[in-house]
Amino acid sequence: MASAASNLRAAAASSDKNSRNNGNARFNDEALSWDSRPFVHEASQAAAAAILARLNENNVKHPSNGKSQTKHLQVLEIGCATGILSFLLAPHVARIVAVDAAEGMIAVLSQKLQTTPNAPQNIVPVAILLEDPEDAALPPAHSDQPDGPRQKFDLVTSHLVLHHIPDLRAVLQTMLGCLVPGGRVMLTDFEDFGPEAKRFHPVARMAGVERHGIQAREMAEMMQEVGFAEVDVRAAWTMRKKVEKFEGEFGEGGAVKPELGEMMDFPFVLCYGEGPM
Ligand SMILES: C[S@@+](CC[C@H](N)C(=O)[O-])C[C@H]1O[C@@H](n2cnc3c(N)ncnc32)[C@H](O)[C@@H]1O
Repeated sequence: MASAASNLRAAAASSDKNSRNNGNARFNDEALSWDSRPFVHEASQAAAAAILARLNENNVKHPSNGKSQTKHLQVLEIGCATGILSFLLAPHVARIVAVDAAEGMIAVLSQKLQTTPNAPQNIVPVAILLEDPEDAALPPAHSDQPDGPRQKFDLVTSHLVLHHIPDLRAVLQTMLGCLVPGGRVMLTDFEDFGPEAKRFHPVARMAGVERHGIQAREMAEMMQEVGFAEVDVRAAWTMRKKVEKFEGEFGEGGAVKPELGEMMDFPFVLCYGEGPM
């Protein structure tokens, strides 16, 4: 158990960092209605399928049934929002520490964990803007040393988060610092395939959008420079999304309206890398 003093220090540090996160207000506002959007569920299902498929490619198979062994994995999901992806991955792994900078999102996730029938018991919600692998709000590596080093993870994931991060290099370094030796990152987001990628967000939902998707080659180079090995950034799936026919068509709230907009295809990438042994 963390001491009261360490809880207070973590809360103060978290609130200071959250004030620097310019997308935070938007995501706090959207937390209660987040799960009502079919697109976020479809996108998380596709992300979970891509991550599990990639895990199965790499993992040692069980000697008797030939199935991949992922049940031992300690996972960190950065930017989990209300935990849609965490819920999908949880049955396949040992534990998921699910962090999000928006306290409203984490409040919804915590409530879902308490009220959803048969909710997974292995998701740990944490409200932080993660910038430091040794952030006191992360679980300790050793339960008898609450103020000691923080837990390291076999797998770090994020989904639809990278395009909100001001400094990609810095977040990759943070992720690297969160891994056990040889641990992996699997990060999914839509691809910046050209000027049309900007249409992913309605004009009213551009707050906190730092870039219009991920440029695969640039991302792969950056991951290698930061220190990841076996880097592989590749197209993983394509999704149809309702977009504005012209900028501002959906109006002030940016909510998708049945009678407006048009469908457009967006490619998604899976960014894979391994930390040093
Ligand atoms: C577009 S939402 C995606 C949420 C979720 N993955 C989903 O698809 O439903 C991006 C989320 O990332 C969070 N976020 C961005 N940078 C973060 C960071 N460094 N640490 C924790 N959360 C972060 C935001 O607060 C926001 O809730």
